[in-house]
Amino acid sequence: MVGSMKVHVANHPLISHKLTVLRDEKTDSPTFRRLVEELVTLLAYEATRDVRTKTVTVQTPVTQTQGLKMAEPRPVVVPILRAGLGMLEGMVRLVPTAEVGFLGMVRDEKTLKASTYANRLPDDLSGRQCFVLDPMLATGGTLVAAINFLIEKGADDITAICILAAPEGIEYMEKAFENSSVPITIVTGALDEKLNEHGYIVPGLGDAGDRLYGVV
Ligand code: URA
Repeated sequence: MVGSMKVHVANHPLISHKLTVLRDEKTDSPTFRRLVEELVTLLAYEATRDVRTKTVTVQTPVTQTQGLKMAEPRPVVVPILRAGLGMLEGMVRLVPTAEVGFLGMVRDEKTLKASTYANRLPDDLSGRQCFVLDPMLATGGTLVAAINFLIEKGADDITAICILAAPEGIEYMEKAFENSSVPITIVTGALDEKLNEHGYIVPGLGDAGDRLYGVV
């Protein structure tokens, strides 16, 4: 499969409701954090639709039957620091047996270029399904850099879960991965209107890291 990045925009009234409260500038950090967790759990349900499974036999109190369990190796969940950390709890609640790796990416506010400043991941991700958590798909620079990093380590199936995405970021990712042999999927709560001149998503929700954790 080449050049077939899949984009799934959630279309669900509960997600829209939670997103609307999240966007409200009057929503405080504790409420914002709780809403992000709830949203991720809902998005993760969609994002894990193709999680790898194996057939197992189970003995119920009534009979023996065939069932499905998540296959080994388990998926790797990769929150992008700092704002992606706010999505980790909601994700591991749904997939408690996933392994968690961390990737620190910073965006230069002037050039908007992304670079890695920290990583704590298995050295070899061969054959691993990865779920990357990054709340805001803005220019796409951070996600492209993060996904390329995971591909270099061998990941062979990557799904990015975002709360909001800008059309510019989706387009940039589609170009970046048009010749990729690794299937890439984006699951987002909403597709917003555009980016402004500062690289912020419009209407968006402001700076996700600041709203989760305060300004540092
Ligand atoms: N990162 C954010 O936190 N917010 C935006 O609007 C864009 C990038």
